[in-house]
Amino acid sequence: MSALYEKTVERFNKFVVPTYAPKQLFVRGEGARLWDDEGREFLDFASGISVCNVGHCNKRVAAAIAEQSLKLVHTSNLYFNELMPRLAEKLITESFPGKVFFSNSGAEANEGMIKLARKYGNANGGRNTIISMDNSFHGRTLATLAATGRAKYRKGFEPDVPGFKQVPFNDIEALKAAMTPDVCGVMLEMVQGEGGILPADVEYLKQVRELCDKNDVLMLCDEVQCGMGRIGTRFAYQSFGVVPDAISMAKAIANGYPMGGFIVRDKFADVLTVGTHASTFGGTPLACAAALAVQQCFDEDGLLENCRTVGAYLMDKLAEVGKKYNCVQGVRGKGLMIGVVLDRPAAELHGLLLKENLVTLTAGETVLRLLPPLVITKEDADFAIEKIDKCLGMIDK
Ligand SMILES: Cc1ncc(COP(=O)(O)O)c(C=O)c1O
Repeated sequence: MSALYEKTVERFNKFVVPTYAPKQLFVRGEGARLWDDEGREFLDFASGISVCNVGHCNKRVAAAIAEQSLKLVHTSNLYFNELMPRLAEKLITESFPGKVFFSNSGAEANEGMIKLARKYGNANGGRNTIISMDNSFHGRTLATLAATGRAKYRKGFEPDVPGFKQVPFNDIEALKAAMTPDVCGVMLEMVQGEGGILPADVEYLKQVRELCDKNDVLMLCDEVQCGMGRIGTRFAYQSFGVVPDAISMAKAIANGYPMGGFIVRDKFADVLTVGTHASTFGGTPLACAAALAVQQCFDEDGLLENCRTVGAYLMDKLAEVGKKYNCVQGVRGKGLMIGVVLDRPAAELHGLLLKENLVTLTAGETVLRLLPPLVITKEDADFAIEKIDKCLGMIDK
């Protein structure tokens, strides 16, 4: 271990609130590659956690940040900055008619959608309950924790914020049964990320849409992890052909510069009025410059197509490899959001792969989660497959 590594660990342990337990230091990134301080190269199959979708230190994004940082960084939302409405226009042009609210993170984006649904529901029949899904993840603020369908995240932080209930994912009968007169919103991830890379069924989503329409309830989709090109379309809902009333965005929206937000359909676009919601840093010129550069990457660099092609290749190869090992129960996902489902905790495999210079993630305890930058090549995929094959061989006793 290098002196810098040792010093960093020492400082971290002494001065940082221990909510994370990192094991690896990185000092540089480029495209799908990361390096430690001794020059060891890693292939990144995590992208942060689906953040650096257009690649580490992407030249367009870096240039936009550098240029804007010398021009104007922040003015507050009490004044116009020309980039924020420009970004909103771009996002609307690429999605559905409506409007955009900008915040700083995924949890805040989801909080905003929750407030939107409550504001509408309270004004239309005094309804304020949100239904979300078992196994979901929506963030670490108190309201998004209440929406999160895994009790372990809430443990110790009681009392829970009222007005939330969960139902099994992909189960329309359970949703129908939960659709009581107090409900104002249904919140879901079209591909559950933290829960273990679980895609929704198209037929289920269509029925959710119909049920929401019938009950005047907002369909809220959390695209924080599965959006921004991750599953092969710019927005996740576009892969399923079902249009929600609002979608939240964060993580990859500005490729690592902190930003979040939600898009809301025309019908509900003026529910949140002046003074009813706000964020000091939401939509600063700097964040918007980075996000506009990300959009330009999607427009001009063929990333969505690459995601679909390399994603399909990776899934096929992984499925083949998986068949060789008893410990692999299946491979699932969409685009470059892929889960290798094991019969045991995935932490050991994840650790072995890091030793082999492949950065991965786990999800839902037993799933090895792969979220590479959308710039990866077939050769990168082959490298990852070779390493995963090798490490599966080591754990498959
Ligand atoms: C689906 C989903 N929603 C919300 C969040 C929370 O985002 P943030 O950590 O930016 O608050 C995450 C983070 O992992 C996520 O995966």
